[in-house]
Amino acid sequence: MKIGNIDIKNNLILAPMAGISDVSFRELCKYFGAGLTITEMVSVKGLYYNSKNTLKLLETSKSEVPCAVQLFGHEPKIFESVIKSGVLDKFDIIDINMGCPAPKIVKNKDGSYLLKDLKLAREIIETCVRATNKPITVKFRKGYYENDDILIEFAKMCESAGASCITVHPRTKEQGYSGKIDIFDIKKVKDAVSIPVIGNGDVVDKESFKNMLISNCDGVMIGRGAVGNPEIFSILQDKKVDMSKKDIAKLHISILKKYFEEDYIVKIFKRHAMKYVEAKIGAVEKRKKIALAKTLFEIEQILFSEN
Ligand SMILES: Cc1cc2nc3c(=O)[nH]c(=O)nc-3n(C[C@H](O)[C@H](O)[C@H](O)COP(=O)(O)O)c2cc1C
Repeated sequence: MKIGNIDIKNNLILAPMAGISDVSFRELCKYFGAGLTITEMVSVKGLYYNSKNTLKLLETSKSEVPCAVQLFGHEPKIFESVIKSGVLDKFDIIDINMGCPAPKIVKNKDGSYLLKDLKLAREIIETCVRATNKPITVKFRKGYYENDDILIEFAKMCESAGASCITVHPRTKEQGYSGKIDIFDIKKVKDAVSIPVIGNGDVVDKESFKNMLISNCDGVMIGRGAVGNPEIFSILQDKKVDMSKKDIAKLHISILKKYFEEDYIVKIFKRHAMKYVEAKIGAVEKRKKIALAKTLFEIEQILFSEN
């Protein structure tokens, strides 16, 4: 698959996930064969004001080739200024978040708010496209309100505004993550535009992956299905995985240690660790203990104990 002039090794893409897809998890998913990884969403305003915490989110791994960043915001001029500032120079692809349903994001007119304001969404895309030669991509949902369906209108708008690729998560903002997605929602978008379409939603194994391919999408983005399960990228390419869940968790920790201090690791790794606990007797108890753990050592003891 190609996004603009950028070659993507395979059609499997790790989803941007705030608090999950940090540089260590992206490196881990690359190790297991993800074709493309994208930073978690980064506030364009935070970059504009040189916020230290925001800038930290731009850290990337050498293995991330090509390299993609996801931005959120709603002011075209701020996008333009940040793109032209050079702070994103190491990235090959710039994605714009037009789907995040979190109340604090929507309240600021960012994320899925833009599904209600196509004029502004278009202005943002056009401004970004004018500001750089890099491909601009857009990730969006089916609409804002529960029964909205603006998929085709929005997809066509993205294409005519100059986006090089779109990612479609066919749930509305109000649906959040409830219910199942409809593959045919992705298919109808694919039929409506000529730019590559990445299908996203509920891919967790080979069966759901095959189901997603019915949409004829060019790429498949995997989010929750990769948490505690980064080897999904190998499995979907029929590559043998010789590591146990414990080995994978150990590898994850060793990568985390390359990038982060213990405090951050404890906070961030718990969500992964709970997913690494295998569904066996005692799993519920283990997960409860992980939630309460205060040090990485404690988490490791719980995760790697025999029972
Ligand atoms: C914890 C969490 C954080 C997320 N953060 C982002 C984000 O930063 N940017 C984004 O576009 N989507 C974000 N998403 C949405 C995912 O990228 C994806 O669209 C959604 O999880 C559906 O895909 P899945 O069923 O494969 O998980 C997030 C999802 C989760 C669960």
